[in-house]
This record gives sequence, C-alpha cells and structure tokens, in this order.
Amino acid sequence: MKTLLVAVALAACGGDDSHLSIDDLQKPSTCMECHPKHYTQWSGSMHAYASVDPVFVAMNQRGQMDTGNQLGTFCVKCHAPMAVQLGLTDGTSFDPTALPEAATGVTCYFCHNVASVADTHNNGLVLAMDDTMRGGLKNPIGSPAHGATYDTLMDGDINNSEMCGSCHDIVTPKGVELERTYLEWQTTFFTESDPAHHLTCSTCHMASSTEVVADAPGLNVPQRNFGFHDHTLPGIDQALTTFPEQDVQAAAVDEELKGAVAVVGPAEPGSNTPTGGICVLPTGMATVRMDTILVGHSWPSGASQDRRAWLEVIFYDAAGAVLLSSGDVMPGQDPEDLADQDFVGMWDRTFDDTGAPAHFFWDVARHDASNLLRPPVTLDKNSPAFDHSFTASATKIDKVTARIRIRPLPYRLLTDLSLDALAPNLKTLDIVASMKLWTQATQKNGCNSPP
Ligand code: HEC
Ligand code: HEC
Ligand code: HEC
Ligand code: HEC
Ligand code: HEC
Repeated sequence: MKTLLVAVALAACGGDDSHLSIDDLQKPSTCMECHPKHYTQWSGSMHAYASVDPVFVAMNQRGQMDTGNQLGTFCVKCHAPMAVQLGLTDGTSFDPTALPEAATGVTCYFCHNVASVADTHNNGLVLAMDDTMRGGLKNPIGSPAHGATYDTLMDGDINNSEMCGSCHDIVTPKGVELERTYLEWQTTFFTESDPAHHLTCSTCHMASSTEVVADAPGLNVPQRNFGFHDHTLPGIDQALTTFPEQDVQAAAVDEELKGAVAVVGPAEPGSNTPTGGICVLPTGMATVRMDTILVGHSWPSGASQDRRAWLEVIFYDAAGAVLLSSGDVMPGQDPEDLADQDFVGMWDRTFDDTGAPAHFFWDVARHDASNLLRPPVTLDKNSPAFDHSFTASATKIDKVTARIRIRPLPYRLLTDLSLDALAPNLKTLDIVASMKLWTQATQKNGCNSPP
C-alpha cells in the first residue's frame, strides 16, 4: 500500500498525466489509502454487498432460468454496475466470485464518475470513464491520485435526488413500477426548493461531519465544516453471510429505524402535534395510529414486495390475560401465515397475469401498494394522508401494548431459493418509537400520555 502512495507522489511532479490509471481508480482498495474512513464505511454497506448477496445471486439465477435468459443484464446493471460497464457479464450464469474487485458491488468509482443521468429508473447513469472524481466539495485542494471536481448531481444540499433515484426505481420488463423510492420521494414536501424543507436522498442518508475528507501521510487536507459524508448507508437489509463491519451496520440500521415510524395519537383539535399513542374509548374501542416521522418516501420502500412489516397490538385485562392480539407473529413464522382478521401488514402484495400471488418480480403484473405507510406529503399531521389506523374493541381492557416490527424478507423466499441455511441470520427488527403502552392508570382523555 505504501508503494502506491510513493508512486503517486513521484508521478505528481509530472502534471495531470500523473493521476493513477483508470484501472487503478476503479478498485475501491485504491481509494482506501487516502480515504480510509469512507472505505471502511462503504465496505460494510449494502452497496458493497450488492453483487455478492446470496439472495441476489440466487434470485438472478432463478430469473434467468424462468425467463430463458431474457432477464439478461437487467438485475446486474444495478447490483454490479461496473461489471456491465466493463462488459464482464451478460447477467446469465452470473458468478460474483469470478469478478475482479473493480466490478464487485456498487463501487466508489461508479458513483463518483457519473457524468449524466439519462433515465429516471433502471440505472440510467452514464459514466465519464475518466480519472476525475466528482463530489459535493466546492473547492477540493486537488488530489495527486485523481482529478477532483464539484458536481451539483453529487451535492445533496441542492440536487434533486436524481443520481440515487435512477438506481432506486425499478420498472420491470413488463412495465411495472415495482420499486419506486424515487417516485415516492417526488410526492413529498421534501422536493420543495426552500432549503428549510429541501431534503434529498443523501441529506437524510449520508450525515455530514467535520472530519477530514482525505487522510494519508503527506496530504495536507483542511478540516471543513460538514465536509465528510457518511457512507454506511443503512436501510433494512444486513449481510446474511459473513461480511466486514457487520456490527457497525447492525447498529446503524437500528439507529436509522429507531424514529423512522411511530405509533402516535390523534392531534388535538387546532394543533399539529400528535399526542399520546394508543387511545381507548370508554366503550372499549381502541385505536392505534401509525405515522412516518422523517422518512422521505413510503415505508417500507424499495424492495417493499419482499419486506414484511407489521403492527403488533395486544389487549390485556386486569388479571393480565390476553383479550385480543393481532400481529403476534412467532419467530420463524411468516406474517402472512397468521390467522388474524385484524392484521395490519405493510408490504406490496404482488400478482401475476392470472391474478395469482407472484413471488418473483419478473412475474409481477400488478401490485397493491395500499398498505405501505405513506411519506410526509404535507406538514399537516391532521391530514387524512396520515390515517394508518388499527381499530378493535374489547370489554374490560386494562392494558394495551403496540409495536411495529419489520423483517427484510419472508422465510418462504429463502425456501423458494433453496437458501434455508440462511434463515437463522434473518432478523426481526423492532422500532423504538412505535413501542407504546396504554394503561387504565396512566391514560389521559382516553389516550396514553405523551412520553
Ligand atoms: C493519493 C491520495 C488519494 C487517493 C488514492 C484518492 N484520493 Fe480522493 N482525494 C484526495 C485528496 C487530497 C482530495 C481533496 C480533499 C480536500 O480538498 O479536502 C480528494 C478528494 C476527493 C473527492 C472530492 C471531490 C469533490 O470536489 O467533491 C472525491 C469524490 C474523491 N476524492 C474520491 C476518491 C475516490 C473514489 C478514490 C478512489 C478511486 C480516491 N478519491 C482516491 C486524495 C486521494
Ligand atoms: C427525510 C429523510 C429521508 C429522505 C429525503 C430519504 N430517505 Fe430513505 N429512509 C429514511 C428513513 C428514516 C428510512 C427508514 C430507516 C430504515 O429503513 O432503516 C429510510 C429508508 C430507506 C431505504 C430502505 C427502505 C426499505 O424499506 O427497504 C432505502 C433504500 C432508502 N431509504 C433510499 C432512499 C432514496 C433513494 C432516497 C431519495 C430518492 C431517500 N431514501 C430519501 C429517510 C429518508
Ligand atoms: C452510492 C454512491 C456512492 C458510493 C458507492 C460511494 N460514494 Fe462517496 N459520495 C457519494 C455522494 C453522493 C457524495 C457527496 C455527498 C454530498 O456532498 O452531499 C460522496 C462524497 C464523497 C467524498 C467527498 C467528501 C465527502 O465525504 O463528502 C469522498 C472523498 C468520497 N465520497 C469517497 C468515496 C469512496 C472512497 C468510496 C468507496 C470506498 C465512495 N465514496 C463510495 C456517493 C457515493
Ligand atoms: C448503481 C446503482 C445505485 C446507486 C447509484 C445508488 N444505489 Fe443505493 N443501492 C443499490 C443497490 C443494488 C442496493 C441493494 C443492495 C442489496 O441489498 O443487495 C442499494 C442499497 C441502498 C441502501 C440500503 C437499503 C437496505 O435495505 O439496506 C440505501 C440506504 C441506499 N442504497 C441509498 C442510496 C443513496 C442515498 C444513493 C445516492 C447517494 C444510492 N443509494 C445510490 C444501488 C444503487
Ligand atoms: C434499478 C436498479 C435495480 C434493478 C434493475 C434490480 N435491483 Fe435489486 N435492488 C436495488 C435496490 C436499490 C435495492 C435496495 C432496495 C431497498 O432496500 O428497499 C435492491 C435490493 C435487492 C435485494 C435485497 C432485498 C430483497 O428484495 O430481498 C435483492 C435480493 C435484489 N435486489 C435482487 C434483484 C434481482 C434478482 C433483480 C433482477 C430481477 C434486481 N434486484 C434488479 C436495485 C435494483
């Protein structure tokens, strides 16, 4: 590693030709030398995992089989974009272990070499294929390894999410808008140009800090306000196989989810602030209302056909006996297998051409998105847009508990892909802001008092 730096330093005397070769710049380990923190964070991210993810590999393989290889590069174009760019795969019989480092996952070079966005979905990003790294720093001091330039597409404070969005929206070969995080974002008030409301994919997902942007012996890089952007990019998925930085990713996912969605009470008349959480009327009618808090799209979003998110509500009487329970999913059980008529599950229900449930996305002809929690389309918390409620009645309610839970994917998907061995690694995540308790003793005006 040291030798590379020396080579760069020597070559730097020679002017612009001194930059590292494009081949070298395509390898994330090259960046590690001067951007060690960016590298470490990225190395445990789902962007690094995207092409080695065994669920991805098996699903792509299955898709090629089911469609007689018609799928081609459709999946790998987003999950291993450099492999397609460099002509190293046609997507059929895709084997990530046969790929060089430069073509594995969504790499540094891929994001940092985007010249333009040709399409809003299915990865319409066009690379410059040069040695200039684009970023959101307005005045880079210059780098011995590469050209460095400010690019509005990369600047999360002012862009319109088009770079991230192009890979985070999928239109299937049948024309179905299946994954649509970017489309959802476009319906929110975060698109407003007023900087007070303008929140893009990277403002929310790549928190900024004052750390130096490049750090290696001999580099004299200034410390900047908010110059460093976090590259951990947690969401819902976590590596199901051994992978770098797993504890860091797990903690980041918990932190990100903690306040993402919540159980909230109705707002007081004339007020925008929701009070309490669970409400129980004297008639025995209980209401549990859910809301997205600072999510910039629906929840869940993206792979919402595979997510399993649900509300668990349990009513108890004074003796502690269960009067009613909904969403009480057992470990190892898929929520759709629960016999529960009050069940509130939040994921896309997908159907094929014949109207039968579709498990794989090349089969999907339509989906029913009605159960996703909608994104913040308005600041008015009394708007019906926020009405995601569970209502049920019972007599002698003394205590009610609620929580929202999510699993990245259903167990039956692992079974369908012959990946049952990974099932023990599948986590069920509980969302802190959704864990609410109502008791007869602490209720105020029927609702549990705000924490
Ligand atoms: C020899 C050290 C070195 C290597 C290797 C290196 N960089 Fe840099 N990079 C720098 C320096 C120095 C800066 C300027 C930092 C500053 O101005 O604060 C920089 C700046 C950047 C910027 C900011 C551009 C802007 O205007 O926003 C990006 C993006 C970047 N590098 C990406 C990469 C990527 C991706 C790699 C691997 C392909 C890489 N760098 C490899 C030293 C390096
Ligand atoms: C207002 C802040 C905010 C904005 C803007 C935002 N997000 Fe999110 N995003 C969140 C939060 C909070 C979560 C939920 C936490 C989690 O899933 O771990 C989330 C979750 C996600 C997930 C995982 C969702 C799932 O169910 O699988 C993805 C992927 C994602 N965001 C991508 C994007 C993209 C792409 C954009 C821009 C088009 C964007 N986000 C804009 C806050 C935001
Ligand atoms: C998914 C796309 C993506 C990947 C992959 C990615 N980056 Fe970035 N990176 C960004 C964006 C977007 C910014 C600018 C954020 C802003 O300014 O709002 C950024 C900013 C940077 C910067 C400028 C300083 C800063 O933190 O803003 C450096 C340096 C950098 N990235 C290095 C890397 C390295 C090294 C890797 C791989 C180990 C990498 N990036 C992988 C999207 C990416
Ligand atoms: C080349 C396409 C591509 C680009 C560009 C891209 N992503 Fe992603 N992103 C992916 C893929 C593919 C995954 C899923 C990997 C997996 O789980 O197998 C992913 C995963 C994520 C996740 C984690 C989701 C989860 O469930 O864990 C987040 C958050 C995210 N991306 C945000 C962003 C943001 C923010 C940007 C822009 C700065 C961005 N992405 C740019 C392709 C891309
Ligand atoms: C337009 C880019 C794009 C295309 C095309 C694409 N993906 Fe993805 N994929 C993503 C992104 C972005 C995520 C993360 C979404 C999220 O976290 O909500 C993801 C997540 C995943 C995941 C992890 C979550 C889950 O659903 O279990 C798997 C597996 C996956 N994709 C498989 C595939 C397969 C197989 C194909 C082709 C049939 C494919 N993807 C096509 C961008 C893409």
